[in-house]
Amino acid sequence: MRKRHSVAPFLLACLTLPASAQLEDSRQNYPKADAGLGEHIGETEVDDVMALIETISEKIRTQYTPGEARRDAHPKAHGCVRATFTVDPTLPEHLRAGLFQPGAKYESVIRFSNGAPNPEAPDYKADTRGMAIRLSGVPGAKLVPDPAAPDAQDFILMSAPFFFMNDAHRYSEFVEVFNSDSKYAWLQLPFILGWRGTVNAYHMLSQTIAHPIYTPYFSITPYQFGEGDARQAVKYSARPCDQTPRAMPANPGPNFLREAMKDSLSKGSVCMAFMVQSSQGTDYTVEDVMTEWDETVAPFVHVAEIDIHQQDFDTGPQNAACESMGFNPWHALPAHKPLGAINRLRRAVYQAIDKLRNEMNGPH
Ligand code: HEM
Repeated sequence: MRKRHSVAPFLLACLTLPASAQLEDSRQNYPKADAGLGEHIGETEVDDVMALIETISEKIRTQYTPGEARRDAHPKAHGCVRATFTVDPTLPEHLRAGLFQPGAKYESVIRFSNGAPNPEAPDYKADTRGMAIRLSGVPGAKLVPDPAAPDAQDFILMSAPFFFMNDAHRYSEFVEVFNSDSKYAWLQLPFILGWRGTVNAYHMLSQTIAHPIYTPYFSITPYQFGEGDARQAVKYSARPCDQTPRAMPANPGPNFLREAMKDSLSKGSVCMAFMVQSSQGTDYTVEDVMTEWDETVAPFVHVAEIDIHQQDFDTGPQNAACESMGFNPWHALPAHKPLGAINRLRRAVYQAIDKLRNEMNGPH
């Protein structure tokens, strides 16, 4: 597996950016809206995102000592596994865009995770789960290149089809309450999130799963598919090819999801389907990620197969490489540009937090 931190001069320059310069950089490079696909930038959006970066950065500086900094979200990995991502050889003409070309194959790494900010939380605790896919060998310039992996394209998915807010301002307030030591702080959540946001958050955070691979995942946020006048907005999903429900073990240990994945992949490969869902001909908008795109209105279409190889992924070097990877939905071809407010803010937040982690831990 490729290590992402070379001592390239460019990266070192980034690592030494002072916090204020980092914020200025994020502000200057804040994504422009694509009005043709329904994007519009809120009046206070950019300021709210800068404040959010400061809130999350402060939280990481307080939570971790230098050398130990973890991801702010999804810090606990069940493992990074190797896979091959193969685009359908018979992909119809209207689904050919960017990296989705008939029969194209990409070697990949997939990081499965828990969402909770506490990396020690046991796997049997209710939570939302993550699946971050990195394809390598994808030709073409990326919207935000990873200097250590310029040929990479990331897809970042979670185990729910909707989010619990549409803007940065609420997320800042949410982070403060979520990290508060007072158990009464939680009583503020319905006021911050509103009724719909509270219901969505409850559904997202109350999930228990029996196996990281035998779980459906969704991009939640929309992405451009194609370029020019033919471009459309889509969401992604990855699902196990074998949909048979898996039972929870009788006495699950704190890391039973890693154990379950180790056990399955020691016996053979496991297959997942990668799908896209278009909003064309529907009323769904790219700025609203609290509404699930109903599959009966906007069906998912199979575009690729993910073959997770038989392997022993739980090794020291592979786990260390996994920890140092920095996924970002903007590690993407222009034909797969992330859309909507939550994706715009993720560009700035993921870059800033990734840099902070490296600043605290040193390049490795
Ligand atoms: C307000 C919106 C969001 C914020 C502020 C946020 C923030 C973050 C941060 C700071 C990280 C750690 C990045 C790093 O250290 O490299 C992260 C990771 C992650 N986020 Fe988000 N996120 C948001 C929305 C979403 C959404 C909508 C999804 C849906 C798919 C998502 C899925 C993930 C996953 C799966 C990871 C772990 C990636 C990995 O395995 O490294 N996030 N997020």
